[in-house]
Amino acid sequence: MAKLGAKKLNIALVGCGYWGKHFLRLCMQHPQIRLSGILDSSESRINELQQLYPDVHFYNSLESIANDTEVSAVIVATGLSSHFAICQRLLQEGKHVLCEKPLTLTAKESETLGQIADSNGLTLLVGHTFEYNSAVLHSKHEIDRGALGELKYLSFRRCGNGPIRYDADVVYDLATHDVSIANLLLNSVPDAVNATGYKLLGCNQYDLANIDLIYPTGLSVNICVSWMELVKQREMKVIGSKGMLLFNDVVPSEKVRLYHTIAPTTQTRGDFGDFQLSVSNNDVSIPNINYKEPLREELEHFMACINGQQQPRTGWQNAANVVRVLEAIEESIAHQGQSIRVTK
Ligand SMILES: NC(=O)c1ccc[n+]([C@@H]2O[C@H](COP(=O)([O-])OP(=O)(O)OC[C@H]3O[C@@H](n4cnc5c(N)ncnc54)[C@H](O)[C@@H]3O)[C@@H](O)[C@H]2O)c1
Repeated sequence: MAKLGAKKLNIALVGCGYWGKHFLRLCMQHPQIRLSGILDSSESRINELQQLYPDVHFYNSLESIANDTEVSAVIVATGLSSHFAICQRLLQEGKHVLCEKPLTLTAKESETLGQIADSNGLTLLVGHTFEYNSAVLHSKHEIDRGALGELKYLSFRRCGNGPIRYDADVVYDLATHDVSIANLLLNSVPDAVNATGYKLLGCNQYDLANIDLIYPTGLSVNICVSWMELVKQREMKVIGSKGMLLFNDVVPSEKVRLYHTIAPTTQTRGDFGDFQLSVSNNDVSIPNINYKEPLREELEHFMACINGQQQPRTGWQNAANVVRVLEAIEESIAHQGQSIRVTK
């Protein structure tokens, strides 16, 4: 097993595209990380990166990382279809791994990776970034302290104009985030799902899906994900007996709003203005949240797990639970919205 030798942690990065470049920035800035190098299968991407970072080392194969005894940990930010094979090889060679979400296509594959990690005493963390997001964590705090009363339902909208992925449909790409957030907020995994999916863009995969998750308490969570939407939407609503919470991730500030109100028992009286403003400003509060970069938090946590100071918050079991739900969603879509039980 690779051990943390000197003070700095030697990390390699596999896949340096849209998301990997954020890991690259964070690794290069971190005083306790030494970036051992980057592996990317795209020649044109390597050329771009070499222009930008002439001092960075570029590996030419996964084997060269696996065999690099200096490398203790690897960040995997390639597309979903390659996660299993890359992680398996690295874990077999004793590297700690932080892999992007979703961990694998099937829960069985996630469990296989988890078993290799556990038997080698390695950290396998999964990039469910929203579980490190200050707004999500604050929302959990409000729920747990009872500010919203008894939860009635949750709803999520994660829509936009692409970007289309070719090795993951909109469920694996976007709904992954909402399933992971809902599991965190509710401290559980759904019993059943029903979902419908559409291929509006003419590709061979779903680009729009409407999903209902049913949690063990009977609580329902609705998720709408789409790559074909005019306006980018990243919204979460939590509806409770005493109040409601809105997390809107596309606004630059005041992302979380708490509405200390419930549905009125009588019709709104008064003029048209009263009707339009039926939730008054006095009923809304905006919590003061100390926003931190979620990916930086995730990376710090990865390092703390490797050092044995913390237990993985988004480890392979958590990730396998998310994948189990994604698999059930796909099955429900394939069966025209039939209710499918989530395997446990
Ligand atoms: N946590 C988040 O919020 C978040 C956001 C965006 C993307 N992601 C995840 O990050 C991963 C990458 O997404 P992206 O948007 O950066 O995709 P991308 O296509 O922009 O980048 C992937 C990079 O990996 C390289 N690559 C592909 N297969 C490879 C292989 N076998 N070996 C080495 N390099 C390989 C590609 O050449 C490309 O440069 C996905 O799993 C995605 O779900 C997570």
